[in-house]
Amino acid sequence: MAGWLVCALLVATAAEDRVSDAVQAAKDRRVVETLLRLKGIKLDSNPKWKAAVRRHLRRIEGSPKYFELVERFGLRDESPQLLQLANAAKTPDATVNAVRLLLEFEQQAAIRQAFKQYPAQAPGLISSLGLAGGAVVLELLQPLVTDGSQSLAVRSASARAVGRNLKGQQFLLELVRRKDLARDLHFTVADVLFASPAAAVRNEVARYLKLPAAKGKPLPPVSELVKRRGDKQLGAQIFQMRGTCAKCHKVRGAGKEVGPDLSEIGSKLSAQALYVSILDPSAGISHNYESYILVTAEGTVLTGVKVSDSATQITIKTAEAVQRTFKKEDLEEVIKQPTSLMPEDLQKNLSAKDLVDLVEYLKTLKKAPVGVPSARP
Ligand code: HEC
Repeated sequence: MAGWLVCALLVATAAEDRVSDAVQAAKDRRVVETLLRLKGIKLDSNPKWKAAVRRHLRRIEGSPKYFELVERFGLRDESPQLLQLANAAKTPDATVNAVRLLLEFEQQAAIRQAFKQYPAQAPGLISSLGLAGGAVVLELLQPLVTDGSQSLAVRSASARAVGRNLKGQQFLLELVRRKDLARDLHFTVADVLFASPAAAVRNEVARYLKLPAAKGKPLPPVSELVKRRGDKQLGAQIFQMRGTCAKCHKVRGAGKEVGPDLSEIGSKLSAQALYVSILDPSAGISHNYESYILVTAEGTVLTGVKVSDSATQITIKTAEAVQRTFKKEDLEEVIKQPTSLMPEDLQKNLSAKDLVDLVEYLKTLKKAPVGVPSARP
């Protein structure tokens, strides 16, 4: 057969497949719409209906309608998909919907499993649980706040999530009172409790914890800072000069690269996350930027971010942006640090207003919109 004919046939079959796909989709949608109109329908009683609903759900996965249908038909066996959506949905609404349904289907065990299986996503999942709220969430997350085997990122996200609930705030306050709160959670818990709507909680936490000071004055909680507007031009200057940020971060080619390039940080992090990154850098150490201490056989001690690590040698970059390579045989110890290389007290020499200006600037560092060609000189 002539090549073009085979081609034409293939195109025709593909087109037919597409048509039949579209027909099937329309049929499935009709079945779903009809089922929705019937009351007390048991989907399990009819495999054909169930198959139609399933196919329909796959086509609309993650949309508001998807969650509505899963809830309406009580489709507990959608839980694996819900868990995936909870970890990687496109919008915060979808994430919270996924989490809410997982809780409704009593999938706590699966959620706990996901924390272990996908540790990098765990803090995000935990924040969504906080937004979904409720007593079950407290049950699930309170133990994580005090579980020393969990990373700071997980414990800190759990404390924030628990602190969205007034009972959860009492739980945190009790840890503070009993002096059972780990030192590395002081910022998170102070930030949560100083923002409590309950004056009694605010007054009591003030007896034990302080928010970090900027130019000697305690800062307001992050939830307050995010409401303020700043001057992005002043913020850019602070980034370069007094803030010392450019010593460790590149923005559009300028600055040193010890920490992550921040050219698009405004697309990656919310204003709240930007403040937390500056005031409590160790709470959410970004992937690949864990810091290490190297001790050489001669007793030299160096701290830095790992640049590369092979069978025979290891390269780190210090806070001064100096790269050093060592043969593994010359090293006595390589210790991963729980703390960030980014200093904890950068706000010390800045005022609250400086900090607000700085974040205003960081918010403007966004990805170029797709499809818009960059301006020509
Ligand atoms: C001594 C080096 C150093 C200095 C100075 C420093 N940073 Fe960092 N920064 C880092 C490192 C390393 C990381 C990655 C580890 C982490 O997330 O804590 C980081 C992470 C961050 C992040 C999170 C990035 C991400 O992709 O999640 C932000 C935002 C940030 N820094 C902003 C700042 C700002 C603003 C300043 C100035 C006030 C500053 N940094 C000063 C080293 C530094």
